[in-house]
Amino acid sequence: MYKILTLNNISIVGLDRLPRDKYEVASEIQHPDAILVRSHNMHEMAIPPTLKAVGRAGAGVNNIPVARLSEGGVAVFNAPGANANAVKEAVLAGLLVSARNICQAWEAARTLTGTDKEIHREVEAQKKRFVGVELPGRTLGVVGLGSIGVQVANAALALGMRVVGYDPQITVQRAWALSAQVEQATNLDHLLSQADFLSLHVPLLEATRGLINRERLRNIKPEARLLNFARAEIVDEDAVVDAIEEGKIAAYICDFPSNRLKGHPQVIALPHLGASTYEAEENCAVMVVEQIREFLENGN
Ligand code: MLT
Repeated sequence: MYKILTLNNISIVGLDRLPRDKYEVASEIQHPDAILVRSHNMHEMAIPPTLKAVGRAGAGVNNIPVARLSEGGVAVFNAPGANANAVKEAVLAGLLVSARNICQAWEAARTLTGTDKEIHREVEAQKKRFVGVELPGRTLGVVGLGSIGVQVANAALALGMRVVGYDPQITVQRAWALSAQVEQATNLDHLLSQADFLSLHVPLLEATRGLINRERLRNIKPEARLLNFARAEIVDEDAVVDAIEEGKIAAYICDFPSNRLKGHPQVIALPHLGASTYEAEENCAVMVVEQIREFLENGN
């Protein structure tokens, strides 16, 4: 009997791929052969000596001590691309919502008080306050052309945007998937200087931690909107909030709330919802469970 420890809720559609006569799956279990995890931070965790594999039901592996596990002979699997459509849709929502100031306008409209006549007067004032921008002809810069970045870039073309991508390590497979209409920048600062919207799609690595910092923000257009559905740490939050307050960028739309960002009118911070669709949760769970099963049963 293989023992699988789940550190987060993993879609039952994936768990059902583990035959119950061969697998015991539980959120509390001694001597696990494998761990299934979503966002739980495993860095502080002691590695059970029986552990052979870890499966992350998502793309990023920054919550997993990959080096420590590899040294101990534990295999690590993830689910690249399995939630890419969900994240793409969240980014497109962020793009549209920020272009039209939807969140700020909704918040203001929601709290209107007075008679209907007074409310209508205030509506007229708000129409002026929340004037937005249209997307056709505007430039979207996409930093990182992995499975999510490529999908975001291709989808933005359909909105009439000019799209410029940047990824010095784009794979041949991704390059084929990228529309020929997506321009490619050879230099990040050059990309930043052109972008009306900038969307980040790089993994969190030492090289990408603080990638968008104070210095880089100086190259961004003052009307630019920055979208981060990748990882919080890729952006220096202090620098972004300062840049917004100094009028050096227009808005920050991200998937990571924090005290620094709280209450800021030009910031939209969602609770890490990018990959949270039923479809993506199922796809990730199935992909990672199949890999764990193949590894435990056949050693591949
Ligand atoms: C990912 O790395 O793909 C996401 O963080 C998945 C998730 O939200 O769990």
